[in-house]
Amino acid sequence: MTEIRVGIIGLGGMANVHIESISKLEGVRITALCDCSSEAVKRAGDKLSIAGNRRFTHYLDLIASDEVDAVLSITPNDAHFEIVKCCLQHSKPIMTEKPFTRTFEEAYELHQLYLGNPIPSMVGFSYRYVPSFRYARDLIKQGKIGQVRHIFVQYLQSWGVPIYDTPMNWRYRSEITGTGALADLGSHMVDAARFMIGEFDEVTAQMKTFIASRRDPATGAEGIVDVDDFTGFLATLDSQVTGVFQTSRNAYGSGNQLELQIYGELGTISVGCERGNELTWIHPNAEHPASIVTEVLKVPAKYELAQMADFFDMVRGHVREELPTIQDGFANQEVLEAIYKAAENKRTISLAEFRSHHQAAGGNR
Ligand SMILES: NC(=O)c1ccc[n+]([C@@H]2O[C@H](COP(=O)([O-])OP(=O)(O)OC[C@H]3O[C@@H](n4cnc5c(N)ncnc54)[C@H](O)[C@@H]3O)[C@@H](O)[C@H]2O)c1
Repeated sequence: MTEIRVGIIGLGGMANVHIESISKLEGVRITALCDCSSEAVKRAGDKLSIAGNRRFTHYLDLIASDEVDAVLSITPNDAHFEIVKCCLQHSKPIMTEKPFTRTFEEAYELHQLYLGNPIPSMVGFSYRYVPSFRYARDLIKQGKIGQVRHIFVQYLQSWGVPIYDTPMNWRYRSEITGTGALADLGSHMVDAARFMIGEFDEVTAQMKTFIASRRDPATGAEGIVDVDDFTGFLATLDSQVTGVFQTSRNAYGSGNQLELQIYGELGTISVGCERGNELTWIHPNAEHPASIVTEVLKVPAKYELAQMADFFDMVRGHVREELPTIQDGFANQEVLEAIYKAAENKRTISLAEFRSHHQAAGGNR
C-alpha cells in the first residue's frame, strides 16, 4: 500500500490533535470525514479540502467507502461500539479512542468478533507514546529497580471544580460515557499500569460524585450527574505488586497530571506525562550503599514514537509489541468493570472470579 487513505469519524476536540499529527506523516492522506453535526463536517471539510462526496453524517457511509483504507474513530464513548463493530465487519483497520467501550458487555462482544477477524486495530491509549513511559517500562524490564513491590498512580484534572461551573456535557452522562473519571482518566491509569507492570489480579475501590447536578446549556435546567468525579482503587498486579490509584476531575491546581511512581527492591522510578522527556531514578549510591542518589535522566531519542505513525505502520504490516490493540481495550474494560463492581458491592473483586462468573453466565452477566 503506497498511500493510506484515512477516514475520520468525530470531528471535535481530540480529532484536531490527530489531524495535526497525521499532517506531519508521509504516505497518509485524509480522504473522508464524518460527524453527526453537518456543521462540523463542513468546517473540517473546507479546512482540509475534502470533496463533497466524501463528507458524511453517518459513520456507515464512511466505513463502507472504497476511498477509505483505514478509520479513526474519535466520537464520544457511546458510538465506539457500533463503529468498531462496523470496521470489523468491513475488515477496515481502526484506531478507536479510549475508553474502549462504555460497558464490559460491549467490550466482550467486540473482542469475540476481533478474535475471529483480528484486523489491524489500535485503542487510543496515547500515554504509551510518552517517551518517559516507554523508557520506564524498559528500565523496569531490565531489572534496574529489581523486583517491583508497589506502585502509586494518579491522574488528576481540575475542570470539574466549583469555580469553573462546568456545564452539563456528555462526560457527565452515564448513557453516553459509561463511567466518569474512571472511564475518562482511569482507563489511562489502568493501561499505563498494564503497560509497565502487568495484568491486574484483584481490585477494591471507592467512587464519588461531588457535584450532583450541572446546568444543561441546551435547556437551562439542572441535569443529574450520574457518574463519578473521583475514583480511588487498590489493586494487586502481576501476582505480587500492590498498586494505589486515584483519579479526579475535581482536583484544584492540577493540569493534565498522569503520574506513576514505581517502587522496587533496588530503587524507585517516577514519571509524569507533563515532563515526558525525563525520568527520575532513585537508587543506592554505588560508593556508599547505605545512602541514596536521585538522578533525573533525559530520555534517549530512541523512545520517541508518534502514536499515529505507529498506527499507520501497523496498517502497512509492521506491528510493534507495545501497540495497544483491541486485546488491550478488552483487558482494560475488564479491569474498569471489576473496579466499578468492587465500588458498587464494597468488596474486593478478583479478576479470575469476575471471568468465571461471566463465563458461567454464557458471556452475559
Ligand atoms: N487519548 C486521549 O488522550 C484522549 C483525549 C481526549 C479525548 N479522548 C477521547 O476521544 C473521544 C472524543 O472526545 P472529544 O474530546 O474529541 O469529544 P468532543 O465532544 O470534543 O467531540 C466529539 C465529536 O464527535 C461527534 N459525534 C458524536 N456522536 C457521533 C456519531 N455517532 N457519529 C459521528 N460523530 C459523532 C460530535 O458531534 C463531536 O463533533 C472520546 O472517546 C474521548 O474519551 C481521548
